[in-house]
Amino acid sequence: MPSSSPKSRMPSIQNAEREAWIEQLEQRMVQLERLASIGELTSTTTHEFNNLLMTILNYAKMGLRHKDEATRDKALTRILDAANRGAKITSTILGLSRNRAGQMEPINLVTLVDDSLMLLEREMMKYRIDIEKEFTPSPNILASPGQIQRLLLNLITNARQAIGENGTIRIRIAPEESTQSVMLTIRDNGKGISPDILPRIFEPFFSTKDGPDSSGKGGTGLGLSACKEIVEEHQGRIRVDSTVGKGTAFTIRFPWIATAPSPSQGN
Ligand SMILES: Nc1ncnc2c1ncn2[C@@H]1O[C@H](COP(=O)(O)OP(=O)(O)O)[C@@H](O)[C@H]1O
Ligand SMILES: [Mg+2]
Repeated sequence: MPSSSPKSRMPSIQNAEREAWIEQLEQRMVQLERLASIGELTSTTTHEFNNLLMTILNYAKMGLRHKDEATRDKALTRILDAANRGAKITSTILGLSRNRAGQMEPINLVTLVDDSLMLLEREMMKYRIDIEKEFTPSPNILASPGQIQRLLLNLITNARQAIGENGTIRIRIAPEESTQSVMLTIRDNGKGISPDILPRIFEPFFSTKDGPDSSGKGGTGLGLSACKEIVEEHQGRIRVDSTVGKGTAFTIRFPWIATAPSPSQGN
């Protein structure tokens, strides 16, 4: 049959090749997104460290200039606070780089989110965005801390970009007995998402942004697809509620780890 000649089959071979090639490119983009989020974290951390160093330097100078006990006590307390903050940031980053493979471990979402938010404080100040935290003590979840941090970074950056300047991001963590899960909600009072694009926001490369903003973030359309993947790797669920002109809320549920037996039951 002439129709089954190699020549007539060419287009389908080309199509398969093209698809494989596109798939490869997509995988590469996902890797780049991962690298970019590490880069973003590094630059945020460096700024934060610089800030802490300035605080330490200024209070050290103040303590040297003023001989009275009250001023010196104040200066030393500020220095200690700044140094403690710095130590906490380094231990968070070190923890993340040690766990590059993204291994799952029991973690407390409240602690992890709180520590991660520390890194975003400066950026939020720059755009005059308030972060309101509503954290209820919750059971541990099985998670990769680095992946959860990427998830947070992506969702909070999106929230910040939807607000522009002057707004509020509310972050809520609470256990939910009925689903045996820990709920994480990130709610912004930004511009919202119109219903016609809402079904597409988790698609890879779907973006309504022209490109990266002045902080070098966003515009790839890979943030939410990465979030979805991360949530699925954690056997969790993600949902979005949005009203144009009012804001958007992303809610994620992570299955909690059944509470450990009490010490009286032995170990
Ligand atoms: N909090 C939000 N408020 C309004 N729109 C959002 C929000 N989060 C995501 N979006 C929409 O979803 C799209 C995809 O988001 P994302 O995958 O992070 O890609 P990117 O941020 O690179 O555009 C965004 O371009 C934006 O239109
Ligand atoms: Mg994004």
